[in-house]
Amino acid sequence: MEPIIEVKNVMKTYKKRKSKEYIQAVNDVSFTVNRGEILGLLGPNGAGKTSTIKMICGLLIPDSGSITINGLNNQKKRLESLRHISAVLEGNRNLYWRLTVRENLEYFAGNRGASRKEVLERVEDLLVKFHLKDKETELVNRLSRGMQQKLAIAVAMLADSDVILLDEPTLGLDVETGYEVRELLTSIAEQDNRTIIISTHDMDVVQNLCERTVIINNGQIVTDDKVANLMRLFEVRSYTISLGGLLSGKQQQLLLQKFPDYHYEEDTIVSTLEVDLAKSEEIYDLFDVLKMEGTPVEAIDRKTINFEQIFMEIVKGGNKHAMVQSS
Ligand SMILES: Nc1ncnc2c1ncn2[C@@H]1O[C@H](COP(=O)(O)OP(=O)(O)OP(=O)(O)O)[C@@H](O)[C@H]1O
Ligand SMILES: [Mg+2]
Repeated sequence: MEPIIEVKNVMKTYKKRKSKEYIQAVNDVSFTVNRGEILGLLGPNGAGKTSTIKMICGLLIPDSGSITINGLNNQKKRLESLRHISAVLEGNRNLYWRLTVRENLEYFAGNRGASRKEVLERVEDLLVKFHLKDKETELVNRLSRGMQQKLAIAVAMLADSDVILLDEPTLGLDVETGYEVRELLTSIAEQDNRTIIISTHDMDVVQNLCERTVIINNGQIVTDDKVANLMRLFEVRSYTISLGGLLSGKQQQLLLQKFPDYHYEEDTIVSTLEVDLAKSEEIYDLFDVLKMEGTPVEAIDRKTINFEQIFMEIVKGGNKHAMVQSS
């Protein structure tokens, strides 16, 4: 696979206003993004996602480290490298607020010297695709936030750049618009083989859209892996066991020592036991505890897990899952 973006050992410190304190926002971050890939950049508030995105698109200069786009260093070959990128950041800065929806699209579509006919076709296509047709003559500053966001993404698409950077594209959107934006992003990635980097707190975006995820916490990468790998990795570890009998106090005590987060629900017919294993071998320890009292096992199921739970475990789980790597 061909890397299109390479972020190498990037550091960024901010100085707090009116004090001598410094904030290490990005601390030795390195990752690569391959052509045609959809990468999710995740992390809690303040993790350093926006700072990283701004450094990739040249709006913020790293203190050290380097970023190349299509093999070009984005500081040494600034204009040449940034030509490959378009970005939608917080506050939709890529739109003209005093122009209408249609005027914005026509302006950006005509930017690359396309013929009038081509421009009009392209604009019409996007107005329909983004469900903005009935707002085409509205000024941008009179649109709702969701509509502005959709227009900002449409404008980013018009640039025909290889890479699109999106900082929280579904933030604050209603359920339907959020869904629409996710669908649009999927179709952009599929049709055009474009590379997309999305920072998001929206785990549906990650689970349904992103192939790979880089998770940042406190300015450092804690996970860089395929979403499918992480799902598999975490699924293997979470079991629900149906028991045809009750657990004794002794058994529960042993479980608590070995699996502090276990969950047990007692029932006279079928009791359930939920356990997250740190390593798959721990299943034997679990069975030792059950065997001790001859507790009948009726069924063993892998707990269904969503990306939100995985994210929480990676970020909040402390050292247990620090630097998760499946491969
Ligand atoms: N211009 C700035 N001046 C000073 N500190 C800043 C500035 N921009 C960001 N920071 C600090 O840098 C850290 C990383 O911020 P950043 O915006 O990159 O986080 P983020 O991951 O995008 O968070 P969020 O999920 O809230 O958008 C935070 O501690 C933030 O307060
Ligand atoms: Mg941010």
